[in-house]
Amino acid sequence: MGERTREPGSNPIQKIGSYCDEIHAEVVEDLHIGEYGYKYRMVEGRVMPPYITPGRYTLSRHIATRRGDICYTSFPKSGSTWLANVIYLITHRGETPADRTLRSCLNWVESSWTYPRSVQELDAQPSPRIFKSHMPWDMALGGNPAGNPCKYLYIARNPKDVAVSYFHFESDKQWSGNYNGPWEHWLRMFMEGRVQRGDWFDHVLSWWAFRDAENMLFLHYEDLNRDFRGELNRIAQFLGYSLTQKEHALITHKASFDYMREDRFTNHQEITDLETFFRKGKIGSWRELFTPDQSEAFDRLCAERIAGSGLEFDFG
Ligand code: A3P
Repeated sequence: MGERTREPGSNPIQKIGSYCDEIHAEVVEDLHIGEYGYKYRMVEGRVMPPYITPGRYTLSRHIATRRGDICYTSFPKSGSTWLANVIYLITHRGETPADRTLRSCLNWVESSWTYPRSVQELDAQPSPRIFKSHMPWDMALGGNPAGNPCKYLYIARNPKDVAVSYFHFESDKQWSGNYNGPWEHWLRMFMEGRVQRGDWFDHVLSWWAFRDAENMLFLHYEDLNRDFRGELNRIAQFLGYSLTQKEHALITHKASFDYMREDRFTNHQEITDLETFFRKGKIGSWRELFTPDQSEAFDRLCAERIAGSGLEFDFG
């Protein structure tokens, strides 16, 4: 398995095989296997996916960012691919290349899964370089975000929808050890901060604390969903772009859920394991799985953990 290309001429997009520990986790001796086979690695005391290797993590922390760099980050399943597409479209005036995919245009430095790049390759890229990350503030790409020239965007989503989306995403995947626990087990792990990328509350609050920094923009998935026009303007302005009406309309069209699910630039067709990636794209799909008791317990936890922070969520 691993990365391979199709027959020349049949499809110019590189096809990536399934995730595979031997290739993408690099060091396998320190991987942990929890209940229902859930596989993970501990990095700086946080639960992380196996493909966050010590070498890649160190590289991401020490990479020298430069003016013009853009890094978007989030807890998984918070709309980061949507945001990545919006950033790409803004910085390319709505145009997308025919022979590449969004994923292949992004730099996911902390990960050795999907298009890992060397320092030389990263150095050679023209600005604006777009970096993907799923790290909390204290593990951010480029070291201390407050002390480097990169612009950071963080997208947060209501944690009930994140938990449900993440459950579907992690179930039966090779990078999670083919986790096969029931929803109630997953929810308990999520609430206890034992899923890959660690504690959702710590993650979101770590970035929220720096929301007023000049080089940072804090976004909500639900705002993008309810007011795409307004949020697109905010993101473009933050990145220093002024869009024409035509560009605005084109980006709105190409960033819609239906378009992204079908378009091969965004639909992740090069990654075999991701066939359920564009699942619902809605606010409130948590209702499909949460029981009334689970919902109440979750609300209590939210009240405890985010009370007084000023952070609020739209649960639909
Ligand atoms: P669901 O599983 O609830 O459908 P991430 O990219 O951070 O992994 O987030 C994935 C979630 O964002 C999935 O949520 C996915 O469907 C949703 N998503 C992706 N593109 C979207 C779009 N254009 N509009 C709305 N939701 C989108």
